[in-house]
Amino acid sequence: MYQGLLHTHSLLRWFLLIVLVLAVVSAFRGMFGKKGYSARDNKLRKYTVILTHVQLVIGLILYFVSPLIKGALADMKTTMASKSMRFFTVEHTVMMITAVVLITMGSAMAKRQTEDVLKHKKIAIWFTIALIIIFMAIPWPFRADIGRALFPGA
Ligand code: HEM
Repeated sequence: MYQGLLHTHSLLRWFLLIVLVLAVVSAFRGMFGKKGYSARDNKLRKYTVILTHVQLVIGLILYFVSPLIKGALADMKTTMASKSMRFFTVEHTVMMITAVVLITMGSAMAKRQTEDVLKHKKIAIWFTIALIIIFMAIPWPFRADIGRALFPGA
């Protein structure tokens, strides 16, 4: 179960990043071009929220089943002194949960707006901040000590 979840979590990152980037680009175009808020924009907003929440749930389950996290939580002093263990136990988790909250808030605020440009603006601002945080919290292969593969099983 653990390996399956980890692979799904790793793969899902790409779907999430693609849909999030599309949502952000569309929101900025809509905001600066004063375009209407289309059904496509609404779908992008919804899919971003759904994928982020699915990723959150998988991440939370991983947190409780991962041997890495179990070992790390058993000895927090050593964990906090180790860059790689601290990253997954604290930094990755806190930053990703923050990004999920920002996307959820941005989506809810966009939904409440009555003017199309304001809908675009809310998504542009909140989703962009979340995208930056997610990008920083992903264990990209080039990152020393914490780097993981770009694709599951690679
Ligand atoms: C929402 C966006 C998120 C993205 C894009 C993301 C992405 C990733 C990636 C790419 C990995 C490495 C997978 C691998 O080794 O192949 C990973 C590992 C992990 N993630 Fe996330 N994650 C997210 C959210 C979360 C959240 C919210 C939690 C916890 C509440 C979480 C918990 C974990 C844990 C515990 C691991 C390491 C598990 C292990 O190696 O045993 N993730 N994540």
